Amino acid sequence: MQIQALAIKTLLDFANVIATAVTRQDSFAGNFVLCKKKISKNLCVIYFLCLIINMIIVKYINNLTNYELNRCNKLITQNFTNNRINTYEKAILYKINNDIIGFLGISHDNYLNQLCVDVKYRNKGIATDMLNEARNILDDKIFLFIDKNKYNTEVLLKFYKKNGFLIEYENDVEYKMWK
Ligand SMILES: CC(C)(COP(=O)(O)OP(=O)(O)OC[C@H]1O[C@@H](n2cnc3c(N)ncnc32)[C@H](O)[C@@H]1OP(=O)(O)O)[C@@H](O)C(=O)NCCC(=O)NCCS
Repeated sequence: MQIQALAIKTLLDFANVIATAVTRQDSFAGNFVLCKKKISKNLCVIYFLCLIINMIIVKYINNLTNYELNRCNKLITQNFTNNRINTYEKAILYKINNDIIGFLGISHDNYLNQLCVDVKYRNKGIATDMLNEARNILDDKIFLFIDKNKYNTEVLLKFYKKNGFLIEYENDVEYKMWK
């Protein structure tokens, strides 16, 4: 917790330094400009924080912007043979530098679907963070299926077990897991 607070403070200081540098050219002007400077400095702080901070956001599918929808569609089609985004109610998105690099679809009945992370960002705990977010925001049990015919079925089974999911049942084609 202390490390997180320190990291946030360092980021704020850094954003502040950049914002000050960007807005310094106005510094000897009159009151109106000073006021403008203060506003633009604050906007700069927010802008740089948005660029730097990794964010998990939860959105209704209907509220995704065109940019977000395109990026999610791209991630899904890179990782799965079919795209079922239109059947989900919500999505958990993982953003780095304002780009979406992680997707998790959530159906009305608390089923998690099509979890995927951009290959460049794997093995950094991003999927784990999104699963934790799903657990935090959803009431009752959460569920998911693992297709038994995937190239990575065994790794996925281990991955979800490591994240606290238990097998509810298995049949010839899939595992159903819950947490
Ligand atoms: C599965 C996936 C979402 C994991 O994302 P991630 O951000 O790298 O995951 P995390 O960093 O939180 O956890 C790393 C764990 O992922 C698992 N993993 C590693 N490579 C994997 C692979 N090729 N396929 C599946 N899981 C993998 C391992 O359990 C690893 O933990 P370990 O290093 O202790 O063995 C990502 O590999 C992916 O997008 N795969 C393709 C899409 C997919 O198969 N989705 C699952 C649908 S059920």
